[in-house]
Amino acid sequence: MKATIGTDLERAAAHLRAGELVAIPTETVYGLAANALDAAASLRIFEAKQRPAFDPLIVHVHSREQALELCEPPPAEALALMDAFWPGPLTLVLRKRARIPDVVTSGLDTVALRQPAHALTAELLARLPFPLAAPSANLFGRTSPTTAQHVAEQLGERIAYILDGGPCSVGVESTILGWEDGRAVLYRPGGTPLEAIERVVGRVDPAQKRVLPAAPGMLAAHYAPRTPLELGDIDALLERGAGRRVAVLAFDRPRPAHACRVLSPSGDLAEAARRLFSSLRELDAAGAELIVAECVPELGLGRAINDRLRRAAAARSARH
Ligand code: TXA
Ligand code: MG
Repeated sequence: MKATIGTDLERAAAHLRAGELVAIPTETVYGLAANALDAAASLRIFEAKQRPAFDPLIVHVHSREQALELCEPPPAEALALMDAFWPGPLTLVLRKRARIPDVVTSGLDTVALRQPAHALTAELLARLPFPLAAPSANLFGRTSPTTAQHVAEQLGERIAYILDGGPCSVGVESTILGWEDGRAVLYRPGGTPLEAIERVVGRVDPAQKRVLPAAPGMLAAHYAPRTPLELGDIDALLERGAGRRVAVLAFDRPRPAHACRVLSPSGDLAEAARRLFSSLRELDAAGAELIVAECVPELGLGRAINDRLRRAAAARSARH
């Protein structure tokens, strides 16, 4: 099987109705979608991604009403966040109803819900009588896809159809928020800035409880290119790597190196987020022995960018 790339919504819907996998565009990254109410279909996502069963999926909905059919009545803060940020890059972890199969949530009693802001996928969701479970459409632990071609490169042999919605406008995954003892907590920084969320619900702390039964180091190592990645002061790292083929992923200023990508010459964090994953892929393909990268300012979308860079670097130490 070789995936077809196209914009045929009816074909995408037909595959999904048949319990098959379709890659879908969202504003954050491409997702690998299946019928979220069909356990067998959702299980195929884990197989195709080689994703461990303990890592739960996000369920995508076309409306707040559809979301509310899938969870227990949520806290008032969750409703306020839906009003403020849906459709958009914000995922809310809420108590699930029984109609969501356990494979989707890895046996947790909560479900992660989000209404994506991409016209093509919104139209697809509106045509379907079920919501879509969809993780990022990459092999487990690897760089997330921000174009249809990225999906085809990693998963093209394993899925029937890739719905092409162009390059993703946000470029990093959604922010994931939940509630612990009635207080909003952050599970993952992402495309909705924490500062904007805090303007709606007040202070948000990092999650304390471990929701995933995973070994902690495992999920820390993620988003990894095949080339080892080191994070720190680029100039110092370049000096240390003198004589080797070193590629550079810089925030706003290029360096002479084997290969170099600048995330945003004007220092714009939204532009940097949009370019992050495709720049990582390009550097990974540049034949370097090492990629060196630097953190960006830890604010707004910068939190999500730094989180992904840290995990990519952690994957390196996990391999060695
Ligand atoms: O922007 C996004 O969120 C993209 C697009 C496709 O929507 N999706 C995405 O999915 O990034 P994925 O599978 O790569 O990451 C989903 C993460 C899981 O790894 C897990 O950490 C968290 O969401 N998650 C899902 N369900 C959860 C739950 N019930 N409780 C806590 N975390 C959950
Ligand atoms: Mg992912």
